[in-house]
Amino acid sequence: MKIAVLTSGGDSAGMNAVVRAVVKVGILKGCETWIVREGYEGLVRGNDHADGSYPEPPTVPEAASEAHHGHPTNLLANLRFGDGLLLRDGTGDHRGADGSGNSTRTLAGRYLVRVGWDDVRGWFAEGGTLIGTARSAAFRTPEGRTEAAFNLIKEGIDAIAVCGGDGSLTGADLFRAEWPSLVQRLVDQKRITPEQQARHKHLRIVGLVGSIDNDMCMTDLTIGAPTALHRICEAIDNINSTAASHSRAFVLEVMGRHCGWLALMAGLAAGADFIFIPERPPDAKTWEDEMCETVHRHREIGKRKTIVIVAEGAIDGDLNPIRVDKVKDVLRDRLGLDTRVTTLGHTQRGGSPCAFDRILPTLQGLEAVNALLEDTPDTPSYMIGVRENKITRVPLVEAVKMTKAVAEAINNKDFKKAMSLRDPEFAQ
Ligand code: F6P
Repeated sequence: MKIAVLTSGGDSAGMNAVVRAVVKVGILKGCETWIVREGYEGLVRGNDHADGSYPEPPTVPEAASEAHHGHPTNLLANLRFGDGLLLRDGTGDHRGADGSGNSTRTLAGRYLVRVGWDDVRGWFAEGGTLIGTARSAAFRTPEGRTEAAFNLIKEGIDAIAVCGGDGSLTGADLFRAEWPSLVQRLVDQKRITPEQQARHKHLRIVGLVGSIDNDMCMTDLTIGAPTALHRICEAIDNINSTAASHSRAFVLEVMGRHCGWLALMAGLAAGADFIFIPERPPDAKTWEDEMCETVHRHREIGKRKTIVIVAEGAIDGDLNPIRVDKVKDVLRDRLGLDTRVTTLGHTQRGGSPCAFDRILPTLQGLEAVNALLEDTPDTPSYMIGVRENKITRVPLVEAVKMTKAVAEAINNKDFKKAMSLRDPEFAQ
């Protein structure tokens, strides 16, 4: 089996550990391993070699490659951010993957790259995604997906592991479902042979969830969420000392477009007086009173500081967004608190993964390769999750459907349903 791994959607800490795990486990299980640069966009762009022949990873110096199952290696080895891995349209990039200026090693015009053991060495400690991610408009079109199919077949790849959020995983499932028709179209266009069609009847796909928001149903945790939470806690710890010094209030905006997990958990882990989350919006008419009463009570018992956390997607019961500036004004005007706003932004998303965001992707990467090896046209495409500390496989479509149902329930003001879908125990 030839496996390609790609990362898609917003980056999250732990995505590199996914790539590392899929590549290493893949090699150990006798597969050929590839990465796709720049997510689905890379799949659509493919490799720029007209005759369909893949230029074997050129000028591979290390004899070490042979030591690892004979895999070609080191095209990517020792790469760090931006080293020749940037998305480029033309062929003008001749810096080479190793920054050497040796054009034979450049990755320009090549989005699918065969990788070996050494290429992913130490990747679990790196933040972001070293193979890049991009929002691909082209992949959303049937033409784009036909190109993607062609590019995979051209390289003989028959399995892909996708690490991304719900949108990315929906794309993966659609791609797998329409694969036979895409392949037929390529035969009709005489771009692939009937032999290639016979060999690529089915595309094996598995999804791993990379999202700092922890916003996917049917899994307890998404890759990157623990690290983001850790960043928020550190930020609140820092803010606490300055807030207490001046006896100030701080309103913190944290990420979480449709999900309040980061806000809620940060409130528990670092302490907050009041929290706003999308799944449990406060009454539009009374939230100001409610917040002021709570903060006032805490002040009365001697607190010198006030922390209010607002999830990015927080709303009130009438679906109006809760704005941090509005919260600040209320605290200032009604309680006379000297109040500041801090928006943590992308500091939550970047940086080195915490230990759990290395362990989880490593264990899930192993399960992902197993799922790919067992994938048949009769099995559903799986999403690898974690439930009660056990690595799980769940049908990808169901998880995505349920995640979308949460957003729908919120839009319909059925907040109880939204919470129950997120956490089945909430319903009891
Ligand atoms: O989906 C993760 C997330 O971090 C959201 O919380 C946030 O709204 C969004 O990504 C921001 O993404 P970007 O800046 O890449 O558009």
